Amino acid sequence: MAELREFDLPRKLLVTMYLIVLSCGFFAAHLYLHYTMAGVSGEDTFMPSLQDISIHFHGDPTKTRFKTMVLGPMKRYFMEDDAKKPVQLSPEEQKDLDAVLAWNDQGAPESGYWDPKEKAKTKDPKLVYTLLYQHNCYDCHAPDATGRSAKPDAPLNSFAAISRFTKPDSGMDKGRLLMLSHVHLLGMAMMFLGAGIALVFSSWSSRVRSALVCGGFASILIDIGGWWAVKYGGEPWAWTVILGGTLMAASFA
Ligand code: HEC
Repeated sequence: MAELREFDLPRKLLVTMYLIVLSCGFFAAHLYLHYTMAGVSGEDTFMPSLQDISIHFHGDPTKTRFKTMVLGPMKRYFMEDDAKKPVQLSPEEQKDLDAVLAWNDQGAPESGYWDPKEKAKTKDPKLVYTLLYQHNCYDCHAPDATGRSAKPDAPLNSFAAISRFTKPDSGMDKGRLLMLSHVHLLGMAMMFLGAGIALVFSSWSSRVRSALVCGGFASILIDIGGWWAVKYGGEPWAWTVILGGTLMAASFA
């Protein structure tokens, strides 16, 4: 069978153009990874750290969407004047925020949110429903909220509604991970098939070519298998994703 260097011009062009486009795709994939994943744990690293990988797939059980928002962009609404900068809570306001967070950390039980019999009529100043009412959260977070930057699709003024945001962060959901897995398995298999065809026609020794073919395909399985291992096993498995990615980059290079 002809070797790469014996190919005629159209065949050489086919291999060359394919590899150029594939390399661009590889580069874009790495940029995408950097933008979506690296730094989610708070440190700004170029490549995702073990912790980033774990938070991405496994989640961070100490966090909930509610807690993240209340400590982040929603914190200023605990102030009397929410347009004031910088965001600086008075001791009373801080106490309310702490009480709301403590409720969240206890697993956000209904009895701490409102009196299950009174429900929306609850006036007890220690209950979360009342605290959020006093800080005007429901101006934006109610099904009928209309004002500027209101969020009627994320109501907080009933126990069922707020419960959507107080579950521990469980990372990427299974459906999305299944979707990503099948897209990547099929896509990367095609990508390595193309690169592999170019490789097997090269003049390198049979041993090197065999090793690269196995390394390339094995890296796909290690990488994607690693996602699932991290999803259920957490950070101790994150090295498999790094190993798969490194092996993939090395065989591709
Ligand atoms: C002026 C309107 C406004 C007020 C007042 C307000 N929020 Fe928000 N809230 C928003 C908007 C807009 C978003 C979406 C922001 C985003 O996704 O980055 C949001 C998002 C949230 C979310 C996440 C919702 C989701 O769909 O993931 C939570 C939880 C939340 N706010 C809690 C609060 C709490 C608690 C208060 C009261 C201390 C409050 N908000 C006051 C406008 C408001």
